Amino acid sequence: MSRFYLTTAIDYVNSRPHLGTAYEKIAADVIARYRRLSGVPTHFVMGNDEHSQNVYQRATERGLEPLAFCDQMEQVFREVWAKLDVSFDDFIRTTEDRHRTAVTTLVQRIADAGDLYEGEYEGWYCVSCEAFKQDKDLIEGNCPVHQTRPEWIKETNHFFRLSKYRDRLLEHYAANPGFLVPEVRRNEMLRLLERGLDDISVSRTGQSWGIPLPFDATSVVYVWFDALINYISAVGYGTNEALFNEWWPADLHVVGKDITRFHAVVWPAMLMSAGVALPRCIFGHGWVLQQGEKMSKSLGTSVDPLDAVDRLGPDPLRLYLVKEIAFGQDGDFTWERFEERYNVDLANNLGNLVSRVAAMVHKYRNGRVAPTPGAVPQLAERAADVVRRYRLAMDDHQLHVAMALAFELVDATNEFITRSEPWGLAKDPERAAELDQALFEMSEALRIAAILLSPTMPASSAEILRRVGESRPIDELRVGRDTAWSAVARTIHTGPPLWPRLDTSGPAPTRAAAREGTEHSMTDETEPQTEATPAVETPRPTETSAPDTTAVAMPVTGAAAAPEAPPAPAEPRLSFDEFMKLTLRVATVVAAEAIPKSKKLLKVTVDLGTEQRTVVAGIARAYAPDALIGRTVVVVANLEKAKLMGVESNGMILAATDPDMNPVLLTLDDPEKAPPGSRVR
Ligand code: MSP
Repeated sequence: MSRFYLTTAIDYVNSRPHLGTAYEKIAADVIARYRRLSGVPTHFVMGNDEHSQNVYQRATERGLEPLAFCDQMEQVFREVWAKLDVSFDDFIRTTEDRHRTAVTTLVQRIADAGDLYEGEYEGWYCVSCEAFKQDKDLIEGNCPVHQTRPEWIKETNHFFRLSKYRDRLLEHYAANPGFLVPEVRRNEMLRLLERGLDDISVSRTGQSWGIPLPFDATSVVYVWFDALINYISAVGYGTNEALFNEWWPADLHVVGKDITRFHAVVWPAMLMSAGVALPRCIFGHGWVLQQGEKMSKSLGTSVDPLDAVDRLGPDPLRLYLVKEIAFGQDGDFTWERFEERYNVDLANNLGNLVSRVAAMVHKYRNGRVAPTPGAVPQLAERAADVVRRYRLAMDDHQLHVAMALAFELVDATNEFITRSEPWGLAKDPERAAELDQALFEMSEALRIAAILLSPTMPASSAEILRRVGESRPIDELRVGRDTAWSAVARTIHTGPPLWPRLDTSGPAPTRAAAREGTEHSMTDETEPQTEATPAVETPRPTETSAPDTTAVAMPVTGAAAAPEAPPAPAEPRLSFDEFMKLTLRVATVVAAEAIPKSKKLLKVTVDLGTEQRTVVAGIARAYAPDALIGRTVVVVANLEKAKLMGVESNGMILAATDPDMNPVLLTLDDPEKAPPGSRVR
């Protein structure tokens, strides 16, 4: 492949980016950085989707012209992307002239193909999705994504003959098995295509905010029809033919699973109609969840990515999202898990390795490493195998597998140090050559691991590479050529710990102070000590921002779950009176059932002795509904009622979380002695 054109979905700008929208941009950035590392000229485009009704409404609420509001939001988005180190090459806004020209040109070509006609639309419209909905798409009358009631609209619109393209789409899917991945999304779209397609309304009347139809100035182009065209307008469709020929068709559109249908059915049909080549691949990623539900501003379940960056830095956040969430599947974000993975992967594992290598090389060889002539490297084969599998995984968009492989090399290197005991070799002058080789091997393996990690942790990898004496900047390095085992002598540099270990249990200096810590002196008896993992305290999330580990069973109201508050220096204490405001009661489960479309929630009916209640509990991953019946549980009985996935929850069932974040129900030592309704304190 001679070049790589990569895009993400363009974001609605009615609110700031949240961790879910940021996840997509980070994942795409990892792919872009990997392609560049592979020596492939890469064009990575992101942008903002500005012609939505919500944007118009938000601007009006603030007394701003919509465009002025969008200008402000562009800065907000750009700032977040910069702080997350997202390296896009171009940023498109749908209010730009180049986009307007492309939309007008493409829509006219679709009209010229005879694929637009006037008709009456009457039905539901979810403004948050900006999508027309049918009754069968709704749950209890609500949009399943936003859990709000759509508007009923009736207007004369222009329709696109989507139905005409069904067979061609099916043929395209059959001829191009990699057109839509992962498999689960492809199967979903194939089922949808097999059921047949309806024509879709692609204009809105009576709205001023949008791009007018070239042949009907009283209507604007439907925001999705408009937005999809960004992928070609960003590379010059209708404005810069040379640029367009250079980059189109796109190699990869990275989008969320909720908008796969627009990308894998509507978009290719639009291109077919206009006679434009189709993108080569669409990847429909999963969602970042909070407490089992989609992270979303409108659901009140969002985390600000900058809070996470402030807590531990951009690279730990990027690593967490890319390594912990299987790309293509949903994955949870919790502050506890984020900190736990930071400690394991970064403080203990990689950070410790960086410090150990530098400390030993300085102690025993004044900071220089060189391989021993004729020695057979012990780690070279392992490194080559990791690099080979890493490339296969990355080429296949298995980002999480690739990151786990990079850590496999880190683990192998730490194990190698333990096995070879350089501190023991150092005591025996006869074994000097062995020591040289061991020190060289650990620094060389670390150098290779840092290159593999660089798409996900660009800044940290650059620092590790500097410390292991790799003088070239990352953008001059190539996977393959520069991840091959070398025999180059290098100067190793020491430095403060990259990721001080978090210890949330006691008072300690701030992370910044710990970064400035000085090195420990070393003794000869054991491995030299390093400053890799001093215990420091990180600011803990406040009660509002942290999911309550003792009460995962039922998310509380949106406001209480919102993680907006700044980090508190220590876990706040409750007075006894405050604690006693909580009414905890013993209850027996009398019925339980799954909640449609939720993997985590169950609707549970509990008997509290004097009454029966419905409680929505986030325990579906660990408990089958039938297995709950008759069990004794503990319920928070005086919580405000909350509606979750359309079901009203009147209380919370208490559970702990195991290390994999699965719920473990709280129960009684002897349920016979405390009947339903008994108070727990
Ligand atoms: N503007 C449309 C996309 C038009 S693309 C031609 C849109 N915008 S969005 O702001 O709602 O979402 C932007 C992207 O973020 C989408 O791909 C969406 O799936 C993704 N995500 C939104 N919430 C998400 C999570 N909680 N988790 C992962 N991705 C999420 O849709």
